Amino acid sequence: AAHRLFASGGADFLKGVVAMDGLPPADRVEICFAGRSNVGKSSLINALTGRKGLARASNTPGRTQEINFFTLGDSHYLVDLPGYGFANAPVAVVERWQALLKTYLAGRASLRRAFVLIDARHGIKPVDDEIMTLLDRSAVTFQAVLTKADKIKAKDRDALLAQVRGRLAKHPAAFPEIVLTSAEKNEGINTLRALIATLP
Ligand code: GTP
Ligand code: MG
Repeated sequence: AAHRLFASGGADFLKGVVAMDGLPPADRVEICFAGRSNVGKSSLINALTGRKGLARASNTPGRTQEINFFTLGDSHYLVDLPGYGFANAPVAVVERWQALLKTYLAGRASLRRAFVLIDARHGIKPVDDEIMTLLDRSAVTFQAVLTKADKIKAKDRDALLAQVRGRLAKHPAAFPEIVLTSAEKNEGINTLRALIATLP
């Protein structure tokens, strides 16, 4: 079944990485969660794994400051990335982790897919476009995941999806399917699990 990966033994924290030489061996299917600070990356990992405190989430942008690796079964890694854009941390620190983030996204051989998380209230911003362009250049297939769907009105969904679809069309590495999620309301979580479990 598509979700066996998420049911069997589940997920665990492996390590937090602050430099490329700290990365674990590139011997599993790796899926990462990128996005602006506070978009809901850590919360989404918790919803997917069904473990609330697994990845640390908070309302302070810049909560995740390392590349955090989680094992999923014995075949996959889920990777929680520091956010980009504004972060509530010292400039020098933020610059260091942004550089690491970009090196990781551009140069990780086992990275099978990047989920680029987009706040459903805000749509795709210029910084998101920048990251998507980096992924294009590195030939990393990425997919847009809209977060915090519980915060938008049903009538605004079509306009949001149209904006995102239009922007994605400009990125050769973008996978066309857009996933609308709410970690809060558990919306789209099973869809995303199935997607991860059946990645080509
Ligand atoms: P950084 O690590 O700082 O980059 O943030 P992040 O992208 O990991 O975001 P995080 O998961 O820490 O969530 C940020 C805030 O958004 C927290 O207060 C979460 O509770 C909230 N949040 C996350 N997902 C959802 C959601 O689906 N709905 C709502 N309403 N709030 C959410
Ligand atoms: Mg985080």
